[in-house]
Amino acid sequence: METFTVAATFPQIKGQPHPAANKMEDMSGAVQKRKKFVVLGSAGQLGRDLCPRLPGEVVALTRADFDLTQREPPGEMLAKLAPVVVINCAAYNYVDRAESEPAAAFEVNAWAVKRLAVLCRDLGCTLVHFSTDYVFGLDAGRREPYGEADPPGPLSVYGLSKLSGEFMVRTHCPRNFVIRTCGLYGASGNGGKGGNFVETMLRLAREGKPLRVVADQVCTPSYTVHVAEAVVKLIQTDHFGMYHLTNAGSCSWHEFAQKIFALAGTNANLTTIRSAEYGSAARRPSFSVLANARYEALGFAKLPVWQDAVETYLRNRDKPR
Ligand SMILES: NC(=O)c1ccc[n+]([C@@H]2O[C@H](COP(=O)([O-])OP(=O)(O)OC[C@H]3O[C@@H](n4cnc5c(N)ncnc54)[C@H](OP(=O)(O)O)[C@@H]3O)[C@@H](O)[C@H]2O)c1
Repeated sequence: METFTVAATFPQIKGQPHPAANKMEDMSGAVQKRKKFVVLGSAGQLGRDLCPRLPGEVVALTRADFDLTQREPPGEMLAKLAPVVVINCAAYNYVDRAESEPAAAFEVNAWAVKRLAVLCRDLGCTLVHFSTDYVFGLDAGRREPYGEADPPGPLSVYGLSKLSGEFMVRTHCPRNFVIRTCGLYGASGNGGKGGNFVETMLRLAREGKPLRVVADQVCTPSYTVHVAEAVVKLIQTDHFGMYHLTNAGSCSWHEFAQKIFALAGTNANLTTIRSAEYGSAARRPSFSVLANARYEALGFAKLPVWQDAVETYLRNRDKPR
């Protein structure tokens, strides 16, 4: 368990400061009372970039501190910590493996989320939960970005387990933010997948391996730092509900790989492949671009376009964190 405190920042929403801003600072600007955040799955790639940006006291819990799959969630521990906001960055993220072990995926992504949502409701705290663009894909001809109100239709067990988790949160915890994001890459890499897409591409190119990357799956790869910054702004409002948060624009994974190599100045033996040839266990959406409509309607600026985001990532990756 790691605890740290960061200075509070309060964004203005449509010209009005969030009411908490007044409670948190006195006339001299000194912070009177800090909001307490408990972050689950804090060692994951989003968790690592989110924790240092949260405005208040942060209790960062890993799986060793708080395993979501325990039948009785460590409610006593959470009650003692008395958070104002619980942020669940933990998830079962093995998209292909979930096809053959659906129970494991549902245990973490749905049933554990239900227990957590009930606990948060009983403690009166806000629950921030993350979901995925893979809740979409069933309407194969779709080429318009999905809004929050569009009906989902997952193609995979992973997508279905995450969709179930969304409903668990929405059903059981009234103070909720359910945030769908997409194609995350961050400096710490995705533990379960052994690094992120950017690093995997650069490593394989360095090794001189021929790279065949799908050109028929279009989405918006998103930098965890940009998503984390937007999450921090959003959750300081009391505009609860469902949100899409990704970088702006869209590309295929092949276009993303091309951009990575161009920016890094790396020569790569890169060709395209169709998803059907690739032969993954799980089906993935051919188009799962998310419109950040509700976030932008609150008056917040668009997130940077994906090309700028990956450039920033490549610039930042070697800096000390
Ligand atoms: N990665 C993406 O491309 C992507 C895309 C769309 C949406 N999302 C969603 O965004 C959120 C964050 O994803 P991420 O990429 O940061 O994931 P990540 O790097 O895989 O991190 C997930 C974390 O959850 C922990 N965890 C797994 N099972 C747990 C359990 N039973 N109890 C407690 N902790 C557990 C993992 O711990 P261990 O390391 O010990 O396993 C890991 O630290 C997730 O909800 C994910 O579904 C991700």
